[in-house]
Amino acid sequence: MEKIKLDISKTACGVSAAEVEALKDDSARANALLYNKQGAGNDFLGWVNLPSSITEAHIEDIKATAASLRGKAEAVVVIGIGGSYLGAKAVLEAMSDSFGLLRKKRTDPIVLFAGQNISEDYAYELMEALKEYSLAVIVISKSGTTTEPAIAFRLFKAEIEKRYGKAEAASRIVAVTDKARGALKTLATNEGYKTFVIPDDVGGRYSVLTPVGLLPLAVAGVDIAAFVKGAQEMERQTGEEVPYEQNLARQYAAARNALYRKGYKTEILASYEPKLQYVSEWWKQLYGESEGKDGKGIFPASVTLTADLHSMGQYIQDGERTLMETVISVEKPAHEVVIEADGENLDGLNFLAGKRIDQVNKMAELGTMLAHVDGGVPNIKISIPAINEYYIGALLYFFEKACGISGYLLGVNPFNQPGVEAYKKNMFALLDKPGYEAESKAIRERLAK
Ligand code: PA5
Repeated sequence: MEKIKLDISKTACGVSAAEVEALKDDSARANALLYNKQGAGNDFLGWVNLPSSITEAHIEDIKATAASLRGKAEAVVVIGIGGSYLGAKAVLEAMSDSFGLLRKKRTDPIVLFAGQNISEDYAYELMEALKEYSLAVIVISKSGTTTEPAIAFRLFKAEIEKRYGKAEAASRIVAVTDKARGALKTLATNEGYKTFVIPDDVGGRYSVLTPVGLLPLAVAGVDIAAFVKGAQEMERQTGEEVPYEQNLARQYAAARNALYRKGYKTEILASYEPKLQYVSEWWKQLYGESEGKDGKGIFPASVTLTADLHSMGQYIQDGERTLMETVISVEKPAHEVVIEADGENLDGLNFLAGKRIDQVNKMAELGTMLAHVDGGVPNIKISIPAINEYYIGALLYFFEKACGISGYLLGVNPFNQPGVEAYKKNMFALLDKPGYEAESKAIRERLAK
């Protein structure tokens, strides 16, 4: 099996190889902290050995529940936000035919997402569109109290109960939540929903390999066993004892931290495959929530190329020189489309005749890398042999491991997210949530000034 590769040699325009290598020992110590659990946030390290701890019986249990939902529903709505949404969305987009919704014959249910925003129009339009489809719901919330998914679940629970009656509704709703705490757990127990547990020691953004990611993916027809296998292999390849020279997670963490220390404060994740767009969204959450705290952290941004070369390309090439770029390069596309010769050649494209579109894409990728490096944007390249379950599983675990190491190199707790609470406090105060009386009074006085 081919492996994922990493090339950090094109960071030389921003940082010397020696400056990156200087973090080699620190990266070993940071990686060790993930195993000896002596670092900050050490009660949230369940994800480190998660892939290798997944049993066949667990996968079969998830697949059996998925099969039951697949048998009942043409559309399955997955309700969740942040880490309870982005992993499944990222893998699903990556694994799906980009135009699958246009296919007249479907073997898999349509998997849609809700509860990742509070847009009234989104909720209305989704409910309306689903009127013609039989329905099931997977509701995901570790805390069981997050406002956005709770609102969406209230809508869909009512809709399903109205359509099918309470008893049948209970067989069309699956909850993924904490083993004991939270409103969702209480509700699931009272209503008799099938429930999957999110382990206590796995935080939301590291939970894609728990039922948070695996159940929606199995419902959509994704091969979750292959996805887990890829992650297991990457767990092995980035283990505590694996030396720096072979440990891609340590190298990536070292390179981006060395760059950060030289003033490269923003990392742009770029890909030339649009179906990886949500992998970038997942990555932004993983790195943004893990590292952006205590007044520090690399700002994670993303572009989909070549589309964004016609929008963000100007800034990347010529704007403020604080950017680094990490490219996810896909070695082999799944399909083949050849550009044909044209007798008239009015568009002047006959020089491409006989070439595959991917050859053009690859030259765009190479040309862009050289241009950006010339423009002073250090480049990191992550090559994946193909987009399939195995390599996406490996890639996501690679990013998780590198993120844990990177957060420790940065000197933060990569497993908490205290800053996320600030907006919630204000929103609850403005909505007069019981228990927020003092905050409501204070915020109204502030707004009246
Ligand atoms: O990574 C995280 O911890 C967060 O993004 C959470 O996943 C998100 O806030 C949703 O939380 P919950 O699953 O408790 O509803």
